[in-house]
Amino acid sequence: MSQTSAEQLQKDFQLVHQLADLADAITMKRYQSLDLIIETKPDATPVTDADKATEEAIREFLARERPNDLVAGEEFGVPDLTGDQRYWIIDPIDGTKNFVRGVPTWATLIALAEPNGEIIVGMVSSPALFRRWFAAKGEGAFVSVNGEEAKRIRTSQVKNLSDASISYSDLIGWGERLNAFIDLQSKIWRTRGIGDFWSHMLVAEGSVDLAVEPQLALWDMAALDIIVREAGGQFTNIDGQPGPHGKSAISSNGLLHDQFLEAINPAMRN
Ligand code: IPD
Ligand code: CA
Ligand code: CA
Repeated sequence: MSQTSAEQLQKDFQLVHQLADLADAITMKRYQSLDLIIETKPDATPVTDADKATEEAIREFLARERPNDLVAGEEFGVPDLTGDQRYWIIDPIDGTKNFVRGVPTWATLIALAEPNGEIIVGMVSSPALFRRWFAAKGEGAFVSVNGEEAKRIRTSQVKNLSDASISYSDLIGWGERLNAFIDLQSKIWRTRGIGDFWSHMLVAEGSVDLAVEPQLALWDMAALDIIVREAGGQFTNIDGQPGPHGKSAISSNGLLHDQFLEAINPAMRN
């Protein structure tokens, strides 16, 4: 398939809201229910019946509405993505550990990629936070709170790490960068482990200046990438590689990105 046309992009941007509605109906029905089925996956992380039902419903919908596109999802697998088909990337519930404990910071993440891997549509739907963030290539990034009219969002203007608010997930997965990251915490204005998709959406809204997670999969990041970039920010992995294909994430307002990369990667310093 060739590059998505502007007309097709508008249709895909509408469709992603239908997918989010579908997901919200399933996840909200199961959130905080007493009979939630929780299993442990081979990677020792939890998965619930809600994660599986949500991904299944999205896959069924896409099979009907976009039969020529591929679907890569956390719970039901990733096909060969090296051909010439577009592909949707689904994390049915990001923040499953929060979901099972009744913490409202969880969301369904949906993205659409061109065959070359460029993300052109992103949706983060977080019904327990009453919020939905979304973006499409060249259209800007938006938040809708409580189903109200969407508002355009933009990243912050903070230029120095000493004035910056940074959010991260936790201290797991940092490897040899851990000490550099811990040292940096005392030099930054404010740090909080807000975690999951929310850290990055707060960057897109300009409420946080930089968010970082050292170990992630494509489905954790694809939707975040385009929302942060369309809000005026920058999205790379922790080595500075642009996009969501690099197994880790730094999202920022763009102004702090290189300073942060240098701080956690001593080899990048002059
Ligand atoms: C998790 C979240 C979290 C990250 C973990 C992921 P899940 O996703 O994205 O922010 O730190 O590595 O596994 O499993 O709740 O979809
Ligand atoms: Ca996830
Ligand atoms: Ca998940």
